[in-house]
Amino acid sequence: MKKFLFVRSCFLQKIFIFFCVFLSISSFAQPFEDNDWLRADSIVKLLTLDEKVALLHGNSMFTSTGIPRLGFPEIKTTDGPTGIREEMYRDSWQPQQLTTDSATFFPIGTALAATWNYDMALLYGTAIGSEARSRGKDILLGPGVNIIRTPLCGRTFEYFSEDPWLGSRITVGYIRGVQSNDVAACVKHFALNNQETHRGEISVTLSERALREIYLPSFEAAVKEANVYSVMAAYNKINGWWCSENDYLLNKILKQEWGFKGVVMSDWGGTHSTMGAALNGLDLEMATSKECNEFYMANPLLDSIKAGKVPLNIINQKAQCIVWLMLKCKTTDKSRKHGELATSEHFNAAYQIASQSIVLLKNKRNILPLNISKIKKIAVIGINATQKNAEVKFGAGVKTNYEITSLEGIRKRFGNNVEINYAPGCFAFFLPDSTVRRHAVFPTSAPDKKLIDEAAALAHKSDIAIVFVGTSHLIEAEALDRKNISLPFGQDSLIKAVCSANRNTIVVVIAAGAVDLTTANTYAPSIVWAWYNGSEGGNALADMLLGKVNPSGKMPYTIPKKIDDIAAHALNAFPGENLKVHYSEGILVGYRWFDTKKIKPLFPFGYGLSYTTFDYLSIRTDTSTYQSGDSIKIAGTIKNSGKYDGYETIELYSSKKDAEILMPEKELRAFTKVWIKAGETKEVNLTVPVSHLAYFNEKTMKWEILTGNYSLRAGSSSADLPLKCAIFIK
Ligand code: BGC
Repeated sequence: MKKFLFVRSCFLQKIFIFFCVFLSISSFAQPFEDNDWLRADSIVKLLTLDEKVALLHGNSMFTSTGIPRLGFPEIKTTDGPTGIREEMYRDSWQPQQLTTDSATFFPIGTALAATWNYDMALLYGTAIGSEARSRGKDILLGPGVNIIRTPLCGRTFEYFSEDPWLGSRITVGYIRGVQSNDVAACVKHFALNNQETHRGEISVTLSERALREIYLPSFEAAVKEANVYSVMAAYNKINGWWCSENDYLLNKILKQEWGFKGVVMSDWGGTHSTMGAALNGLDLEMATSKECNEFYMANPLLDSIKAGKVPLNIINQKAQCIVWLMLKCKTTDKSRKHGELATSEHFNAAYQIASQSIVLLKNKRNILPLNISKIKKIAVIGINATQKNAEVKFGAGVKTNYEITSLEGIRKRFGNNVEINYAPGCFAFFLPDSTVRRHAVFPTSAPDKKLIDEAAALAHKSDIAIVFVGTSHLIEAEALDRKNISLPFGQDSLIKAVCSANRNTIVVVIAAGAVDLTTANTYAPSIVWAWYNGSEGGNALADMLLGKVNPSGKMPYTIPKKIDDIAAHALNAFPGENLKVHYSEGILVGYRWFDTKKIKPLFPFGYGLSYTTFDYLSIRTDTSTYQSGDSIKIAGTIKNSGKYDGYETIELYSSKKDAEILMPEKELRAFTKVWIKAGETKEVNLTVPVSHLAYFNEKTMKWEILTGNYSLRAGSSSADLPLKCAIFIK
């Protein structure tokens, strides 16, 4: 009888659980945000302690357990951010070498930011999210949104900008796109992972103002505007506390202040203790080197709970965050989107983004666009013309179906009437440097005279020479910072030789972070920045050189004349000493430093030319006096006064000259990218909420708006702002 009662109660319990789960997960479609949160809570109530703890740590390199008893499958993560990483074995970094996992290679993060176009970020996120879904993934480990504090940072290619407003607009578009596919984005690396040197040990200190105004806004926008479902804690420490165990960062700012409901996961192997992680805000530990049961958040956590050291309500909260993410991604729902992999639409998206990202830095004598009908011979020079950038040696790359190199793009698009010859011009030779990282290599700077002579001779007998210079993923890579911004392998000598052999030389830069373009600027009449631009990069570049694409990209960071002009380097605040780095430049990062200190860069933030010309005619605000809750509405008129239709990005900066506290010379507050036909005059509208003019007061620990006069200036780059108007804040 007892046995019967037991069996019966088990049966009833199962029916009850089934009923609860059904109720919980059947109402996915309900529009109320908080429904998922409440349902996650009711599901957590059904879980055993073991099941809850199983949710809080990885069970293989890229997965965590889910709740098998209730039908919630494993949570599968994938890198990001520039394409879906190939399938790895469960417990090693080795790829499975499948034939079914090739994906679209999208332009790198800096390229996306160079489009200055929210719609491109949305398109990017939507396409990459669809690919993640089609490969059965639940969390895409991206976007990477850290501020570009120094161009030497090896992960600059994954990041967006030196400016928090540009960075946060791109962040929001990317995340909304990804998550529209029932896939969670994972915004990373939270926070201050601005260098790779000693990234696993260094402790960053900085002013609260710099933290809030410069380094956190993209993360804050990810949470508050894009409702991101997960955040990855960075490897480094802040103020002595690991980011994955940082109460101030994770509990106080992210969860309490910003109201983040989702999952805080560690970076791979970035957790350092059970109690630190459990109590200070980490929800999911991902690691690589141990047995999964031995992770800090696995058996040791179970022991700490049983010993009463970690309160159960904290475990419940963590489990709730994870179940919430699963509900948001509809992991048990038949209506979940399926996604598509490597479709022509996605390659077309990669093409569109690439073509809007290319920056024309210089165009003397209007060499570009090329008038192909008048050209018989073109010399394509430089190893960057043939280099592929989808795959990386260390970290997350993309195995892609195809990647059109610049040389291939030029050959395909320029037609048969023009002869195209190629010369490498330099040799990629690396020197090992194991003091930095095992297997680390650094490029040599020595020119190869024979290859340079060959290239110059080819340039001499050609009508046009196009020299490709820059870096590669052996130079700009995860876990490795560059040592300087010099062009490697004697490429400056190559530029000089080719320019003296042929005055119609175009220099094309294929790189992610700033490189020294002083030589190029001295000798070459034309300079183009073309990034690691994804599967369609070569086609987009060729179309831009031909004028089928009118360039509209603008630099998302400042290109200095020399590395010491960058704040962190000028102040000797990189890469730190004794595993400590203090951001002594404070809020003066990027152009904020250059402009405030009156240092002239080689190419300013926000700079990029077009084949046409734009006249900035007028600007006005809807009124002249505002209060804190108001929005400033700005209308400007711009005329396309040249011969080509084209996009122009109108950038709007604010300045407050009479402030008693330090204010940067100017700060980007709004921008918009519009298509203007040749000869057309367009009115553009921008809105700046007065609250966006606030600074972070460290004494009150609040955002505060200084009252009084402000000037607003609009134009085509941070250094070219012809339209001005004054406003007053009461
Ligand atoms: C990187 C993360 C990445 C993870 C998984 C870490 O080394 O810092 O950005 O998502 O590996 O590949």
